[in-house]
Amino acid sequence: MEPEEITNAKILIIDDDVNMMDILTVVLNKYGHTVNSFTEPVSAIEELKKTKYDILIVNYLMTPVNGDRIVELVREFDKEIYIILMSMHKELAPSIETMQNLDIQAYFEKSTHFEQLIMFIQSGIKYLEQVRKIKNMNLQIEKYLVDFAKILLNTVSAKDHYTEEHSKRVCNLCVYFANFLGLDKNTIDDIKLAASFHDIGKIGIPDHILLKQGKLTDEEFETIKLHPVIGANILGVSDIFLKVCPIIKGHHERIDGKGYPDHLKGDEIPYLARLLTVCDSFDAIISKRPYKEAATIEEGLEQIRQGLNTQFDKELGSKFIEMVNENMQDIKEILGI
Ligand SMILES: [Fe+2]
Ligand SMILES: [Fe+2]
Repeated sequence: MEPEEITNAKILIIDDDVNMMDILTVVLNKYGHTVNSFTEPVSAIEELKKTKYDILIVNYLMTPVNGDRIVELVREFDKEIYIILMSMHKELAPSIETMQNLDIQAYFEKSTHFEQLIMFIQSGIKYLEQVRKIKNMNLQIEKYLVDFAKILLNTVSAKDHYTEEHSKRVCNLCVYFANFLGLDKNTIDDIKLAASFHDIGKIGIPDHILLKQGKLTDEEFETIKLHPVIGANILGVSDIFLKVCPIIKGHHERIDGKGYPDHLKGDEIPYLARLLTVCDSFDAIISKRPYKEAATIEEGLEQIRQGLNTQFDKELGSKFIEMVNENMQDIKEILGI
């Protein structure tokens, strides 16, 4: 997918000088740009949060808030927008240092000769096209890496069908739970990625142990216990997985410190790893395995309740029980029962 080419920029102007703003709007409209103007910074910032703009033109000296403060606030949520600061006289311009710190790309001294401003807008458009091209390339690379990790996971699944189905169910359960908890979109993306690949380390477990039909010996269980570390090591070579590796590595830790691999306790275990543990264990409990029968949902919930504060985070475990009880039909659908 190619990024959209910008020919006509979407521009927002903030200036307390209404006359200047009117003139600018007419000039920029003539060049085919879409312009929205504000005399008051608070509503301008609200608009920028709601709607995506390409370019922000902001007056430097204004009351009650100066342009550089406005830029500071805008940069908190929009790193991409191309910013042109304008001022009446050169002597009143902010220092180069301020401009660099706030990532202000251009400075325009107000006059009725707009050629320079038009030129800045053209460079802004070129700049944004490049930024969006790079962003798009990074997204493609991320997609390839996730696809590649799926191939790795499929090699486990080809031998061990359970891991494939289990990973899908745990992923859907985690996403449902994260939404139930009201977590933000980025956090939900992280848990989705971690849950999809949480058992990928099983690729490093010998077949005679991974596929054993029956109870594992202590020694074999020690080998199985390596899978969170193997998984984190495999995925940790790529930047996009690096941030979710502590979740993958921590998905068999227990609140009481008796888990593995690092015997972390309580809050030492990353929050999303604690969330993943509840969903992962619940799915394992209610699944039929060669060495055990499937438990019912009610029995599964009871085991979660019994593990509160020992195996599971008390608050997350309680919320999970609440979620399943309140949304039984959806949960059954996720679990395919
Ligand atoms: Fe696991
Ligand atoms: Fe698992």
